[in-house]
Amino acid sequence: MELADDTLHSVIALVRQHTGIAMNEHKRVLLQGRLLPRMRALGLTSYRDYVARVAAGGPEVEAFVNMVTTNDSAFFRTPAVWRWLESSFLDAWRNNADGGVLRIWSAAAATGEEAYSLAMLCAELRERHPNFRYAIHATDIASEALAQARSGSYGGRSAERFQAAHPALFAKYMAPGAAAGEYVVTPALRECVTFAEHNLLGPAPMRGHFDLVMLRNVLIYFDEATQERALRQVRVAMRSRGRLVLGEQETISRIATPFEFEQHHVYRIAGEGA
Ligand SMILES: C[S@@+](CC[C@H](N)C(=O)[O-])C[C@H]1O[C@@H](n2cnc3c(N)ncnc32)[C@H](O)[C@@H]1O
Repeated sequence: MELADDTLHSVIALVRQHTGIAMNEHKRVLLQGRLLPRMRALGLTSYRDYVARVAAGGPEVEAFVNMVTTNDSAFFRTPAVWRWLESSFLDAWRNNADGGVLRIWSAAAATGEEAYSLAMLCAELRERHPNFRYAIHATDIASEALAQARSGSYGGRSAERFQAAHPALFAKYMAPGAAAGEYVVTPALRECVTFAEHNLLGPAPMRGHFDLVMLRNVLIYFDEATQERALRQVRVAMRSRGRLVLGEQETISRIATPFEFEQHHVYRIAGEGA
């Protein structure tokens, strides 16, 4: 069943309204594939009726957001970022910490692999430096992705690639789950991460709080005005001298933001110097 032009445009407008994601007509097939099973499950016979249901607000908006977001992630995604965290950021932070707590926000965390990778990195550091304290907050707009993140349960390519790239960390922090090929993040590590729903179009989850914000592979879905809006709130959430990390494909050099480039992937707050 094909999404007619006018209904497609309504769907695209609803996606933008609720998530900030900018889609165009090329997403017709993708949207059809994602919405059709839901439409049928609700007993609706046309996309137009489904659009009316979402436009009316209420609980269907949550299901809609779950369907139109792309929640893929990976453990230790983009190795250069993890090298920078380990060899530069964490040492520099500890040298200036005065006994405080390192507060990290994994924003648009999807299914949680990044948050748990951060937790492993910090747990390893804490073994060497028992005074080191940290807290990791992970958020996403998609409730289903967050539910998976909270469960800490991984299988398939996500687990396989992690195990192949980091066998020692995998063996230490992942326990076999109930199903074949399923692994679960150890309870002690899960306790280091809090998860919450958060929309980057809205206000910052906390003010002046985070030393490090990982905001990777989500700005690419937004137009420039939405990127600017989201980044202004990210800045509000950060402590002075904090660092922002973006995804591999992302650059913010063309837009007006409260950040300045430090090195590939890494940004500091504008005006704070090196
Ligand atoms: C491709 S995943 C990136 C996951 C992770 N940051 C990484 O790099 O591996 C993009 C995530 O952004 C989330 N997202 C999209 N729009 C959002 C918004 N307005 N607020 C918060 N999260 C959003 C999606 O739900 C999805 O989980």
